[in-house]
Amino acid sequence: MSERALQIGLAGLGTVGTGVYETLCRNRELLQARTGIPFRVKRVAVRDIHRKRDVEIDPELLTADWRDLVEDPEIDIVIELIGGTEEAHRLVEEALRAHKPVVTGNKALLAEFGGELFRLSAETKTPLYFEASCGGGIPIIQSLQSSLVCNYVRRIAGIINGTSNYILSSMERKGVSFEEALAAAQRKGYAEADPTLDVNGWDAAHKALILAMLAYGTPLSPENISVYGIERVTPTDFRFARELGYNIKLLVVIRHHGERNALELRVQPSFVSHKHMLSNVYGVFNAIAVHGDIVGETIFYGRGAGKNPTASAVIGDVMLAMRDCRHPEHHSGFHPYTKQLSLLPQEETVTPYYVRFHVADKPGVIATIAAELARYDIGISGTMSSARREDGEGEDTCDLVFMLHACPWGKLCEALRALRVHEGIGPHPAVFRIETLNEEA
Ligand code: HSE
Repeated sequence: MSERALQIGLAGLGTVGTGVYETLCRNRELLQARTGIPFRVKRVAVRDIHRKRDVEIDPELLTADWRDLVEDPEIDIVIELIGGTEEAHRLVEEALRAHKPVVTGNKALLAEFGGELFRLSAETKTPLYFEASCGGGIPIIQSLQSSLVCNYVRRIAGIINGTSNYILSSMERKGVSFEEALAAAQRKGYAEADPTLDVNGWDAAHKALILAMLAYGTPLSPENISVYGIERVTPTDFRFARELGYNIKLLVVIRHHGERNALELRVQPSFVSHKHMLSNVYGVFNAIAVHGDIVGETIFYGRGAGKNPTASAVIGDVMLAMRDCRHPEHHSGFHPYTKQLSLLPQEETVTPYYVRFHVADKPGVIATIAAELARYDIGISGTMSSARREDGEGEDTCDLVFMLHACPWGKLCEALRALRVHEGIGPHPAVFRIETLNEEA
C-alpha cells in the first residue's frame, strides 16, 4: 500500500471514543486489509488534555480544541463523539463545510438538527454517517439504507435503549430496585452522562426519529411525539404481566398510515407477548423488528450500548467514509427523498390495554368500572385481581386488572377521567399498551 494514508480526527475520548481509538489501533491490519486503504488517527480533541486516561495515547495527538481537526487540511475524516448538541452541532457543521466526511453517534444532535445537517451534507456533497446513533453495535442504519432499500416499511417496533432494558430486566429477573439497576447501568457505561433521557424515554425517542427518517425519507421533528419512560413500572405490574403471558419492555413503535400520509410514532413501556422475540431481549441488548412489504418481518439483535459495540458501529462508518474519500463522486450518506409526513395524534392511536386499578375491596367496584368502560364503548377481554390487603387505614384494598380490547387512546383517557369521581377507585391506574406485533404488521 503505497498511497497516502487517510488521516482521521477524533473528537471525544469518553467511553465510546476510547473504544474507537483502541479498536482502530488494535485491528488496524484487519481494517486495512479489508478496505485496502491505509489510515492513521492524526489528532484527538478532548476537553482536558491533562486528564489521566484509560487508554495509552501519545500526548502529542491531543488538543483541547476540536477546531484543530476541522481546520487541519490534512485531516480527511472527522469523528464526532463529544456528545451534547450545541458544541457538537457547530463541530459537525464546520466539518461538513470544510468537506470532511463526518461520523457521529449523536442521536440527540440528529433528532434536533438532522434536517438541517442532512441538507448541508447534500449541499456540500459531504457525507454524514450515523450508524452508532441507534442500536449500539446493531447495523440497523446501513440495513435500512442499503439491504432493505426495496421495501416500503410497514412498521418498525423495537427496544432501542440499552439502559432502560437493563433496568427493566434486572427488576423483572432479579427483583433489583430501579435505583440499584440504574447505578449498575451507569457503572457499565451504558447510560448517558445524564441518565434522565434513558429513563424518561427520550433517548429511545431520538433514535426512533432517526429510524423513521430512514424508513420514510424525511427528517421529523421531536415535537408532538408521544413519549413515556420506565419510571412508573412497578414489580406489581411485572407480576401481573408474567401471569398474563407478557413481559414489559420500553418499546418504540413506528407505523405508517398510508391512507392519511401520517406516521404513528410512540415510545412507552408496553406489554409484549412471551410468544414474541422482543419479549426475550434482556439486559443491555436491543432488538429492532422491521416489517417491509417485500422482505416481511426481520429482527436485528445485539448489544445496544457500551464501549465496544458502539465503537464497532462507528468504525464501520469510518470505513465507508474512507471509501468516499477515495471515490468522492460517490456519496453514500442519507439523501432525504420525500415530503414532510404528519404525525398521527396520540389520541387516535389504537391498541389493546392493560389497566390496573387500586380499589377498595367492596361489592360493586368491578361493576362500576365495567359500566363506565362500556359507556365509552370499550370492551373488556379479561380481568384479574390480587389478594385482598389492608391499606394501613383499616380499609381492605386490592389491585384489579382489566385487559381491554383495542380502542383509541383518547377514548381510554376519557373513560379513566370519568372513573376518577367514583369512590373507592384509586385515581391513578397503571396503564400499559399491549403491542400486537403480528406478522401482518
Ligand atoms: N444510553 C444509551 C442506551 C447508549 O442506554 O441505549 C446507546 O445509545
